[in-house]
Amino acid sequence: MENLRLAVIFGGQSSEYSVSLHSTASFLRAIHKDKYEMTMIGIDQGGNFYLYEGSIDDLEHDHWKNEKDCTPCAWIHGGIITVENNPRTFQFDCAFPVLHGKNGEDGCIQGLLELMNIHYVGCDVMSSSISMDKEIMHILCDEANIPCADYLCLRENDENPSFEEIQKSIPLPWIIKPCNAGSSYGVHFVENEEEFNEAVKDAFFYDGRGKILVEKVIKGFEIGCAVMGNGTIKTGSCDEIEITGGFFDFEGKYEMKNAAIYCPARIEQATFDEAQDLAKRVYKAMNCTGLARVDMFVQEDKSVVLNELNTIPGLTATSRYPSMMKAVGLEFPDLIDQLIELAMERKVGVC
Ligand SMILES: Nc1ncnc2c1ncn2[C@@H]1O[C@H](COP(=O)(O)OP(=O)(O)O)[C@@H](O)[C@H]1O
Ligand SMILES: [Mg+2]
Repeated sequence: MENLRLAVIFGGQSSEYSVSLHSTASFLRAIHKDKYEMTMIGIDQGGNFYLYEGSIDDLEHDHWKNEKDCTPCAWIHGGIITVENNPRTFQFDCAFPVLHGKNGEDGCIQGLLELMNIHYVGCDVMSSSISMDKEIMHILCDEANIPCADYLCLRENDENPSFEEIQKSIPLPWIIKPCNAGSSYGVHFVENEEEFNEAVKDAFFYDGRGKILVEKVIKGFEIGCAVMGNGTIKTGSCDEIEITGGFFDFEGKYEMKNAAIYCPARIEQATFDEAQDLAKRVYKAMNCTGLARVDMFVQEDKSVVLNELNTIPGLTATSRYPSMMKAVGLEFPDLIDQLIELAMERKVGVC
């Protein structure tokens, strides 16, 4: 049997561009290379697409965009064509977008791949876009009786409730966060009006689509659960984030400053079961396919509430999603194979 033709898409026009480079480098080192005929496609921060033929190290250290290794390319039905004197075409059976955040995790690239009739790993257009927008997630979770923090949505060009008015419905302290961002960009803990005004400005800056949330601060600690599957879904283990001071910010996530991760989570079996059950319910409610990491809080009374769902979670060998799957016996290279199998099962485009 011929090897499956796999396009690995990295970079992206997103504040999480550098996170994608790390995920992709780790992913490329782990994947069963003998099983796939791989093509790498880079997206720079300006949104340009390139066929990349360089090394994993250059990719990881953001030296990938050079004339020697990169050729501009355009999408065609079933693949890409390079833009050069003697154009080359590449056809794919499947694409793996190792992209995070805006344009990667929000249905945009998924829509492009649908139109090009290429199978792709992860959630489809609709479930990617609803899971990316934290206000839409709240609305749908309310419908599905999934517990979340109390919230209010502020719109950039609207008359929004004042600081005092918000206080009447949500007691301080608050978390202010963009509806459409990731990696904790633009997320602030707020205790007074001055902090609120600063936080609102910054959150709108990172959102880019003019919507931010005011959320009640959940007291407790953060846990996550890896979920995988199409019709039949399974969960990995749950992990736990221990934070010393503040919240799980960018430095905490990627440099482990003031943060430690325990997998499996050090929680009672009943809480563990409740978290896995809630994660599955959220996954189903958002109509997810392929994979998602569901992030939750364990409150002081031990009840579990949803924080958010990530449709393309970090994918380095030591990232949370692969670690939670490893904890149930699924090693990273085999996880990648299974995710590609799930992508091939699902109908795409006109097929
Ligand atoms: N309602 C909340 N209560 C307490 N902490 C929160 C709340 N919302 C977010 N946080 C903290 O901020 C971090 C980032 O927020 P999150 O909603 O996960 O956005 P992102 O998509 O940027 O990861 C969380 O990991 C958590 O530490
Ligand atoms: Mg998060």
